[in-house]
Amino acid sequence: MLGVCYYPEQWDESRWATDARRMRELGIAYVRIGEFAWSRIEPARDQFNFGWLDRAMDVLHAAGLKIVLGTPTATPPKWLVDACPEILPYDEQGRVRGFGSRRHYTMSSKTWWYESARIVTAIAKRYGDHPGLVGWQTDNEYGCHDTTLSWGPEDLRAFRDWLRRRYQSCDQLNEAWGAVFWSMEVADFAQVSLPNLTVTEANPAHRMDFWRFHSEQVAAYDLMQCDIIRAQSPGRWITHNFMGFVSDFDHFAVADHLDLASWDSYPIGFVEKFPFSEAERNRWAETSHPDIAPWHHDLYRGVGRGRFWVMEQQPGPVNWAAWNPVPKPGMVRLWTWEAMAHGAEVVSYFRWRQAPFAQEQHHAGLNLPGVDKLSPGGLEAGQVATEIAQLGPLPAVQQAPVAIVFDYASYWATMVQPQGRDFRYEELAFRWYEALRRRGLDVDVVRPGAALDGYAAVIVPTMIHVTDAAQAALEAAQGVVLIGPRAGSRTRNFAVPHDLPPGPLHALTQNRVIEVASLRPGLSHTVGGAVQGNAIRWRDHAKSQAQVLARFDDGGPALTQHGRALHLLCWPDQALLGSVMDLVCQNAGLQTMALPEHIRLRRRGDLWFFTNYGPQAWTLPDGFDCLLGGPQMPPHSVTVAKATTEPKEV
Ligand code: GAL
Repeated sequence: MLGVCYYPEQWDESRWATDARRMRELGIAYVRIGEFAWSRIEPARDQFNFGWLDRAMDVLHAAGLKIVLGTPTATPPKWLVDACPEILPYDEQGRVRGFGSRRHYTMSSKTWWYESARIVTAIAKRYGDHPGLVGWQTDNEYGCHDTTLSWGPEDLRAFRDWLRRRYQSCDQLNEAWGAVFWSMEVADFAQVSLPNLTVTEANPAHRMDFWRFHSEQVAAYDLMQCDIIRAQSPGRWITHNFMGFVSDFDHFAVADHLDLASWDSYPIGFVEKFPFSEAERNRWAETSHPDIAPWHHDLYRGVGRGRFWVMEQQPGPVNWAAWNPVPKPGMVRLWTWEAMAHGAEVVSYFRWRQAPFAQEQHHAGLNLPGVDKLSPGGLEAGQVATEIAQLGPLPAVQQAPVAIVFDYASYWATMVQPQGRDFRYEELAFRWYEALRRRGLDVDVVRPGAALDGYAAVIVPTMIHVTDAAQAALEAAQGVVLIGPRAGSRTRNFAVPHDLPPGPLHALTQNRVIEVASLRPGLSHTVGGAVQGNAIRWRDHAKSQAQVLARFDDGGPALTQHGRALHLLCWPDQALLGSVMDLVCQNAGLQTMALPEHIRLRRRGDLWFFTNYGPQAWTLPDGFDCLLGGPQMPPHSVTVAKATTEPKEV
């Protein structure tokens, strides 16, 4: 199913009915509105102006569209900011972040909670039972524009309260943080400061708690909005639109109280955001890298406990990346089908019409700016709509054979204490995912502690702090478990475990890490044995009682095996990573398909979705009946097929 993001407040009312009719004609079923409209809904305190939104909802509903209504809290209006400047966030340099764009609030402010509850209640009461309304979106992209952490007076106050609740006494706080080091002990919670603007690095335990505190606040703030909506709007689902590569808060924890997850897919914009090499950036500049959107689809299917939407889909060039090329013809269609292959219930394009004013003038829509004329992306969306209707309902998504355990806290921990400048957790996880997908495997992304039943292989790129639940789940897993570098290297209080890393994973791995090395670019250690390649960026020097399958050039263990657990004691280069993944697949009895760099595969029920991200054609192996597209895949195309025989290796 397809949807679109629409801003009735940005267009003359006389256009709404035509817009709605044209959406339906294009094959669009859902429309998301309202998420930035606070200044129009409440132009001055308690002076609500619902008339225009009443009429907009009615027009959209009358055209047969199903409405998703956003709460407008990402954009507090000027009158509110002027009356309550304490809601504004602060950057790490201690400067206030001002009005004039969006996300200018801190969740630490009690005033902000009060004001948010007030506007959400008013809107939920007004529209909660509107016949056109099917679901809600809370706020917009928590954490986007670096807004999870805020460093102001309200944050300090709320952080101290959080610490009081968590530690009860300063003795316990001092003990947990190891605050005796450098005389950082406090005698009263009121003496705790923010972990910024210190002369040299702040205590990592302090920073980690500050991060946890903010992450918990996001979940609590979202729950507050959800509770209000549920009370006023029974029978409607609630989602939040998460943003790609924003890992500053635990998305699993937010989604615990949502009905489904959604995310905003800007595959080309993310090519600039992700730390690709320049060669990769150039190669994928106009298509995106073939694992960028799929990684997020699989992540958010996990976050949404099986249910997710793409709430915003890039429909052409965007405005916000360092460079913003036009996608190659065919890519908007490809991304849409790809999302559905990974289980998206709806793909909703951002936005209906390009805005000729304000910040996003260079951002494409399904229609050209100002006029009622489809853009190239709009034409592709229309094509997908026709194809969806032809193909009919898609089969259910089944559990993948491989799980990657993704741990937001490991991202924070490695940001707090990189130790090597290029140890980036998101990158590690992404590269391991990419290696699996190059082997034609479907992957689920799960949270630490999730049950791992039924997976032939479980991949843990790293997990800095291993909770009891995570340890129990890994020990109970029946499949091959691959554990990566730095795993189990810190306790909850950000200390080295007393029995050395990997701490709680010792029983599983039979290794103890004695020293760690970060390796600057250009420095590497060769690995040889059952797997081949190089350690780059990071190496754990370990003593092993497990079977050593591969060693570093100086004889130290690089890959060990104990039972079904493999432990890789370094950040692998591409060759080593590939070799390790081959071994994992072999040990796990997984059937692989070696795909070229630009081809990917995802199964959904008995359907096989192939995507071609490359500029050259590709031919499917024998043994498929094609339902959409053909066995000869032109550049930037998709083929949906059913296997008639067991497909051969390619
Ligand atoms: C998203 C955001 C939208 C719009 C879009 C532009 O991050 O949710 O409101 O700004 O980016 O690509």
